[in-house]
Amino acid sequence: MTGAPLLDVTDLTVSLPHPDGSRLFAVRDLNLRVGAGQIAGLAGESGSGKSITSLALMGLLPDGAKVSGSAMFEGRDLLSMSARDRAALRGRQMAMIFQDPMTALHPMLSIGRQMTEHYRHHFATTQAKAMRRAEEMLDLVRIPDPRGALKRSPHQFSGGMRQRIAIAMALCCEPTLIIADEPTTALDVTVQAGILRLFERLRGELDLSVLLITHDLGVMSAVADRVSVMYAGRLVEGGARADVLTRPRHPYTHGLLNALPGAGGSGGMQTIPGLPPSIATHPPGCAFHPRCPFCAPSCKVDTPPLVAISDDRRIACPIDPLAPKKVTAS
Ligand SMILES: Nc1ncnc2c1ncn2[C@@H]1O[C@H](COP(=O)(O)OP(=O)(O)OP(=O)(O)O)[C@@H](O)[C@H]1O
Ligand SMILES: [Mg+2]
Repeated sequence: MTGAPLLDVTDLTVSLPHPDGSRLFAVRDLNLRVGAGQIAGLAGESGSGKSITSLALMGLLPDGAKVSGSAMFEGRDLLSMSARDRAALRGRQMAMIFQDPMTALHPMLSIGRQMTEHYRHHFATTQAKAMRRAEEMLDLVRIPDPRGALKRSPHQFSGGMRQRIAIAMALCCEPTLIIADEPTTALDVTVQAGILRLFERLRGELDLSVLLITHDLGVMSAVADRVSVMYAGRLVEGGARADVLTRPRHPYTHGLLNALPGAGGSGGMQTIPGLPPSIATHPPGCAFHPRCPFCAPSCKVDTPPLVAISDDRRIACPIDPLAPKKVTAS
């Protein structure tokens, strides 16, 4: 990555209140960078803290959540700025796309009304100008007959088209960063591929940066430049996509890849035994140790830090059982 990253998250920690008065840590010491024009992937099983991370960055955490660390975005720390400054950024310089486009779209209002409201709020401008912008954005995401689409309501579109509209809406105010939380999970595979190609095209055309959150490493391998993998609230591995996905070094990443259809030598789908822990029962030491085939005694005690193993690659596993073996001349 050249120059300062667009988003630079350092030691992000998020805790949520437990009914018994204690705190539950959904995210711990997370470090993440998204460069300008980059698609950075954040992966991990259900409950690993991906959505809480995105909500922390957007300033949309539930009541009672506590957050620490820093998240520098265009030179300002998102985590320490006032609620007012945060709201001014949201939907403008940074926008979010959710798994279910209906979260972003009001079911009863026309697409035109919804798309222009945002734009007019952030750029004091006329309705006619806002409508032109909305039409351009619908055209950009390849909605057929964009002008006609502005008059229709969300239920008149298919799920894939609704997701394209939600993306167009997010793009209206020319954000530099989009956080997309499982944007294709609800869609069938062909539609999913279309949406992923759309992100790739927009990144190229608009120099857009995307933090792409998904539990699906298949989706990641299609578009992400970089991949970070989370387990039980912590990052366990990060690096360039090709490196991480073809030569995983953390046993968890390795397990996730083996569970993909068609992976490995035996037809793939070798699921990792056991289940990810719930937020209330994160095990001591390395949270993955109860499921790890390479678990050593120290893994049950010490929480492994994320360590750089090369310029561009980090893992949180001191055992490093998947490191390439040194060939020694005999
Ligand atoms: N409002 C909340 N109060 C208490 N715990 C919560 C709250 N929201 C999420 N959690 C817990 O925080 C942990 C992380 O949740 P999060 O939604 O970030 O997971 P995720 O990685 O996005 O999972 P998924 O793939 O299912 O979307 C989970 O254990 C979840 O149960
Ligand atoms: Mg989630």
